[in-house]
Amino acid sequence: MLSHELELRVEVQNLRREFDSKEKKVVALNGVSLKVREGEIFGVLGPNGAGKTTLIRILSTLLLPTSGVARVMGFDVASEPEKVRAVINMASGSERAGYDYISARGNLWFFSQLYGLPSEVAKARIKRLSQLLGLDDYLDRKFYMLSTGYRQRVTIARAFINDPKIVFLDEPTIGLDVMTAMSIREFLIKEAKENGRTIFLATHNMAEVDAICNRVAIIDRGRILTSDTPTNLKRSLGAPALVMEVSPLPVNLAFLNAVEGVKGFTTSVDEERGLARVQVVVESEECVTRALAGVAASGMRLVSSWRQQTTLEEVFVSLVGRGFVEREHEVGE
Ligand SMILES: Nc1ncnc2c1ncn2[C@@H]1O[C@H](COP(=O)(O)OP(=O)(O)OP(=O)(O)O)[C@@H](O)[C@H]1O
Ligand SMILES: [Mg+2]
Repeated sequence: MLSHELELRVEVQNLRREFDSKEKKVVALNGVSLKVREGEIFGVLGPNGAGKTTLIRILSTLLLPTSGVARVMGFDVASEPEKVRAVINMASGSERAGYDYISARGNLWFFSQLYGLPSEVAKARIKRLSQLLGLDDYLDRKFYMLSTGYRQRVTIARAFINDPKIVFLDEPTIGLDVMTAMSIREFLIKEAKENGRTIFLATHNMAEVDAICNRVAIIDRGRILTSDTPTNLKRSLGAPALVMEVSPLPVNLAFLNAVEGVKGFTTSVDEERGLARVQVVVESEECVTRALAGVAASGMRLVSSWRQQTTLEEVFVSLVGRGFVEREHEVGE
């Protein structure tokens, strides 16, 4: 089916949200526009403070926008929040979302009753979601006795209990082990594919976006920098990234900013080996030669270098000139 035939589920136009803190005004969202359709897993990817949670809170009616319009299933989040709430659900990876002294099953039952589900329907849904999320053997344990991973599986199950058209997930796999994160991701893919659900996912995990999102919007300082499929975004970079290991420490890489065709770079220091690993987003092969020559010209030693398939990290670097971690430090200052 062509994408324009699929039902429009989320539509955001020029959304703005400001917060007044003590001294200054913070602009958490600065003119965000996007559209998400049925069956899509849409990722909002950005560093700390980019505005992801603010966007999710507005779309799930927990927070009002300062200006702009957001519609979910055609309903305005600001003026028709009850209608929006009836067709969505949400979960966050950082909240502790359950009652400790009742069982996992009891928790799911409790939420099913908040939605007024008939008991047969509720039982069937709990059974189905538990099977899909590998919870069968854990349903009768008290919530507080579950490991972080199983608690999060219950939290995810809860977010699907009302058969929502759209599920908003804020960092759903944060702090989870690889196996748990994988089973949650498989579950999300299945729900989108088989039930046409829209999954709207905020994360700073590039690998997660790469693994499950049909489309992604990269967000930084309240603005969407670009939006496309992960594959198209990576392809748009043209050449594989250049990785250089450079010594001695501390290294001065200012010269890279002046190398023609360098779109940005990130640095991580390996104290033990006494070197810095520099990932450079390059426009062309000639640019690689210039960057490598620049190391020697600046009086440093090139320990090793290689090329690496571009990831969404390089896409971000090419857009802002810096990596996620470096950006988070900048914004935190
Ligand atoms: N209630 C609030 N009061 C004041 N400022 C806020 C509030 N909520 C968010 N902010 C600010 O708005 C900006 C965006 O925050 P938000 O939590 O949406 O970012 P995020 O992308 O979810 O970040 P993270 O990856 O750390 O979760 C930040 O500068 C944050 O400090
Ligand atoms: Mg957040």
